Amino acid sequence: MQLEGKNALITGGASGIGRATAIKMASEGANVMIADRDIERGEMLAGDIEASGSTAVFREINVAQEQSVQEAVVFAHKRFGSLDILFNNAGVGGQEKKLHALSEAEWDQVVDVNLKGVFLGIKHAAPIMMEQGSGAIINTSSVLGFKGKKRTGPYNASKGGLVTLTKNAALEYGRYGIRVNAVGPGVIDTPIVDNWREDQRKWDVISSANALGRIGKPEEVAEAVVFLASEQASFITGETLMVDGGGLTF
Ligand SMILES: NC(=O)c1ccc[n+]([C@@H]2O[C@H](COP(=O)([O-])OP(=O)(O)OC[C@H]3O[C@@H](n4cnc5c(N)ncnc54)[C@H](O)[C@@H]3O)[C@@H](O)[C@H]2O)c1
Repeated sequence: MQLEGKNALITGGASGIGRATAIKMASEGANVMIADRDIERGEMLAGDIEASGSTAVFREINVAQEQSVQEAVVFAHKRFGSLDILFNNAGVGGQEKKLHALSEAEWDQVVDVNLKGVFLGIKHAAPIMMEQGSGAIINTSSVLGFKGKKRTGPYNASKGGLVTLTKNAALEYGRYGIRVNAVGPGVIDTPIVDNWREDQRKWDVISSANALGRIGKPEEVAEAVVFLASEQASFITGETLMVDGGGLTF
């Protein structure tokens, strides 16, 4: 097992990519804390993982609020005795509007969750990992961190910001044995893209806009996250690993 005995905190762990990663990490021997604003789905998932014989706990979190993030990190550390893996994955898509039509509140809502939320996770986990002398942090960026798209300004900006924030954190904490990487998913079949599904023609275009010609599965991103969290990636840090079916080849 790739993560035997490791203790992991997964934000946005109740759904989609976070959910698939919680299940995969648990199956690889990790104890997982699922942190999400969605209490019902988070508790249900933790129960399912426990029922399968692994250790999982749920904790409500709002990654956009510092106190909430701090409390979740402290809770995970106390509950498990160490914090080996932090998967900063919670994210929102936001309103699809051109920049001039966006309100300040709409901008803040996306950037606060997608970018500030990751900063807060790193801020509160890093001292614990520095004390341990080890740790792996993985952030969820996106293909939209590398290329533009109309009407997704704050999403593009937040996911692009994560690519360099990941490098920054890798530099700041590498000498403490902490690796910091990101995954860059392409279009993955999760609830966050539900609104794109409504228009079949648009969905077909999106589905074929990568080298493999299909939408990805959350489990395929989870595999990459587990790899980056594991000893197999022991000399990899500061990287964003694309999991996009070749979406950036377009
Ligand atoms: N699905 C895709 O096509 C795709 C592509 C690239 C990147 N991503 C990124 O992957 C990550 C996971 O998204 P997903 O596709 O699994 O979508 P999802 O909607 O299934 O999952 C997102 C989870 O984050 C949680 N969340 C949102 N705001 C939160 C907050 N403030 N505090 C705590 N939890 C919060 C939601 O409750 C949800 O459980 C996001 O960062 C998203 O931007 C997704």
